[in-house]
Amino acid sequence: MATMTSLIGLINKIQRACTLLGDHGGEGMSLWEILPSVAVVGGQSSGKSSVLESVVGRDFLPRGSGIVTRRPLVLQLHKTESGTECAEFLHAPKKRFTDFVAVRKEIADETDRITGKTKQISNIPIHLSIYSPNVVNLTLIDLPGLTKVAVEGQSETIVEDIENMVRTYVEKPNCIILAISPANQDIATSDAIKLARDVDPSGERTFGVLTKLDLMDKGTNAVDVLEGRAYRLQHPWVGIVNRSQADINKNVDMILARRKEREYFETSPDYGHLASRMGSEYLAKLLSEHLELVIRQRIPSIIALINKTIDELNAELDRIGRPIATDGGAQLYMILELCRAFDRVFKEHLD
Ligand code: GDP
Ligand code: NA
Ligand code: MG
Repeated sequence: MATMTSLIGLINKIQRACTLLGDHGGEGMSLWEILPSVAVVGGQSSGKSSVLESVVGRDFLPRGSGIVTRRPLVLQLHKTESGTECAEFLHAPKKRFTDFVAVRKEIADETDRITGKTKQISNIPIHLSIYSPNVVNLTLIDLPGLTKVAVEGQSETIVEDIENMVRTYVEKPNCIILAISPANQDIATSDAIKLARDVDPSGERTFGVLTKLDLMDKGTNAVDVLEGRAYRLQHPWVGIVNRSQADINKNVDMILARRKEREYFETSPDYGHLASRMGSEYLAKLLSEHLELVIRQRIPSIIALINKTIDELNAELDRIGRPIATDGGAQLYMILELCRAFDRVFKEHLD
């Protein structure tokens, strides 16, 4: 039996195949829907993009105050055995990015291509893949933050528009929710927890993440939340210290940020006893373990869906006639071969 790591790598490939299948407007998207992903939910500037970056271990997402994330970003992490890290966008498949500053710029530019340089949002996702020996295999989705009021330059309906967009991602039963709440606001006012509880009442797919622990008022702490007494979730809460805006301005890198975060917990009089269960690296580990569990439970239904897709692709190829003359036919054929390969490997995983 192959390792779970390679199994999750396979899932990432299947998701890419399903994105291609989706382009044909076929049933293929249903395959995409059965596979788990991880989405961040929370109020504007609660630290969603920062948490995602930490989980990935790379700097590449636009972050900052105000509405920065304005389109969904579907991010697939692929763990490679070795080699340099690189990134690739679905909208520019031939271009390989090795400079992550350029990745961040491309996300911002591609956002503006649809929305203009405004404070408007768009439902159209940006698809980005990162290949690296330093990541765990995960699909992550960065989303615009929930807000309370429309600001200058935004439509009257922006508050609902954002909430509806976020809902379309997190209401899917296969979506694992990272509910991000800042520690310097009362947990009872958390938009993240409110929405997560709404779409996942049992809390089985919600992970509570508490950011900005370093920004709490002196003399207060979040032990009640982190130990699950203030708001109980099925999974344990994870506390995080991301880079501050001053750190971002000073270009504090990820490695230093993680070290500072670890030191923060290890030396904290309030959280020292929780240190081994806090921080970005622990969150990443918790997530990938949970994901593996979910995928393992789903293998039989994934095989069934792949077989259905193979049948559909065969029918489609019969309809357009073989041998394949058209570009579309060639692409269908390639996808069919891909599905067959996945099917074979999945069956091996079941043995
Ligand atoms: P998003 O709008 O939810 O995606 O939030 P961002 O990740 O863009 O962060 C918003 C701002 O909060 C940025 O200036 C971050 O530097 C800052 N920030 C996020 N998390 C923390 C944290 O844990 N501690 C501190 N001090 N600042 C944070
Ligand atoms: Na922000
Ligand atoms: Mg953001």
